Amino acid sequence: MDEVKGIMNKSGKKPCALLTGGAGYIGNHTAIEMIKADYDVVIVDNLHNSYMEALKRVEKILDQKLTIYVEDLLDKAALQKVFSKHHFDCVIHFAGLKAVYESVEKPLLYYRNNLNGTINLLENRFG
Ligand SMILES: NC(=O)c1ccc[n+]([C@@H]2O[C@H](COP(=O)([O-])OP(=O)(O)OC[C@H]3O[C@@H](n4cnc5c(N)ncnc54)[C@H](O)[C@@H]3O)[C@@H](O)[C@H]2O)c1
Repeated sequence: MDEVKGIMNKSGKKPCALLTGGAGYIGNHTAIEMIKADYDVVIVDNLHNSYMEALKRVEKILDQKLTIYVEDLLDKAALQKVFSKHHFDCVIHFAGLKAVYESVEKPLLYYRNNLNGTINLLENRFG
């Protein structure tokens, strides 16, 4: 992502990205690349399928502290609080349940988490 280094938002500031599921497998690699590309990154993850330890390792790799909210996307009030504290130029939404076998066994759990989480996220922009 080196070619996008130095990118700025409309206010001439470093762009800020919300990374949901940022503690997960794809999320923490994305956090590293975005921070290297000069984005401010804010992570929201409920740590349901991940560990704070992974984010601590990311901090070690980058030699900087991350902005992390351990919150559930299903918690509307908590999500609104995050949106009230930051101005996001973009959102990358990785927070979701994704185990194929479990999704067949517990479809409603997956619908509830993945659809409602996405809707709550969108409501902060379009609600
Ligand atoms: N891993 C892959 O190969 C792959 C391929 C294609 C698409 N994807 C998609 O990318 C996304 C991320 O995949 P991953 O492999 O990083 O999964 P992951 O399970 O490692 O990461 C998902 C993260 O989301 C968090 N999360 C789940 N529900 C949440 C909620 N309600 N609120 C807050 N946090 C929540 C989990 O704690 C976890 O840290 C998923 O949507 C997945 O379907 C993954």
